[in-house]
Amino acid sequence: METPASPAQPNAEQIEYWNGPVGQRWLTYNDWLDERTAAYGRAAFQAAAPQPGEAVLDIGCGAGATSFELARAVGAQGSVIGVDISAPLLGRARERAAAQGLSVDFREADASRPSFAPASFDLLFSRFGVMFFDDPTAAFAELRKTLKPGGRLAFACWQGPELNDWYELPLTAIADFVERTPVDTRQPGPFAFSDADHIREVLTAAGFGSIELQPFATPFYLGRGATREAMADDAMEQVFRVGPIARLLEAQSEEVNARARVAIRAALLGLAGDEGLEVGGATWIVTARV
Ligand SMILES: C[S@@+](CC[C@H](N)C(=O)[O-])C[C@H]1O[C@@H](n2cnc3c(N)ncnc32)[C@H](O)[C@@H]1O
Repeated sequence: METPASPAQPNAEQIEYWNGPVGQRWLTYNDWLDERTAAYGRAAFQAAAPQPGEAVLDIGCGAGATSFELARAVGAQGSVIGVDISAPLLGRARERAAAQGLSVDFREADASRPSFAPASFDLLFSRFGVMFFDDPTAAFAELRKTLKPGGRLAFACWQGPELNDWYELPLTAIADFVERTPVDTRQPGPFAFSDADHIREVLTAAGFGSIELQPFATPFYLGRGATREAMADDAMEQVFRVGPIARLLEAQSEEVNARARVAIRAALLGLAGDEGLEVGGATWIVTARV
């Protein structure tokens, strides 16, 4: 995007968010994030079933991990565009594509705006990149226009916080001294598509049919390391640097943060797992058609 986001621009807050310090931190922890979210991406990928020769749009592609998998699946006769609003993440995606000799067209654009030719994609795909639209119905209506007749949509999004220990555990650990505000599942954020009825309403209103939601849950290692202390160090680094808990704690005093470090570390050390500290993660794998 050549011009900076203005407050009146749709998704202005998210554009600022993903281009600011958060975008930089996602770069720092990108390998960690890719490893932790790989299983959910694979589940969406299987549901999407990309075929050789197809044209695919990877929505909110970030640093490109899923775009590369899609590019391998569609082959030289196919094409993949990765779209994202984050300049730093796209920069990393382009570097990684060059290093792997993969041809992916990474574009800096708001996926909810009419940036692509109508009827140009066979598949719209996303791993956790569609929960950040100010107006999801308008965004998906716009995206639907870019699908060819018979085209399909497949994405992974988080189910509710209560099913996601990576979010719930730190919050519970600090509940005595950090007030919990209920997650608003109608606002942009990781849980914006956690409510199955809401997903169906949005996609139906956007003109999609054959909407299906499959729950997919699997644990992942929140922290890795040779010892449990090292695992906790790794997990603490991530909890305090990326994601919604980091965002919440940034707004708190240093004193509250110091208490939070003690409480969250103790809770993390209570987690099971031989190779890492294991937490639950639960998603919806959503598919639909034009
Ligand atoms: C949780 S990250 C997921 C990134 C990537 N799909 C992955 O799995 O590693 C969400 C991504 O969506 C992007 N994003 C948010 N709103 C967007 C929009 N309106 N258009 C395009 N990308 C968007 C963010 O910049 C960020 O890279």
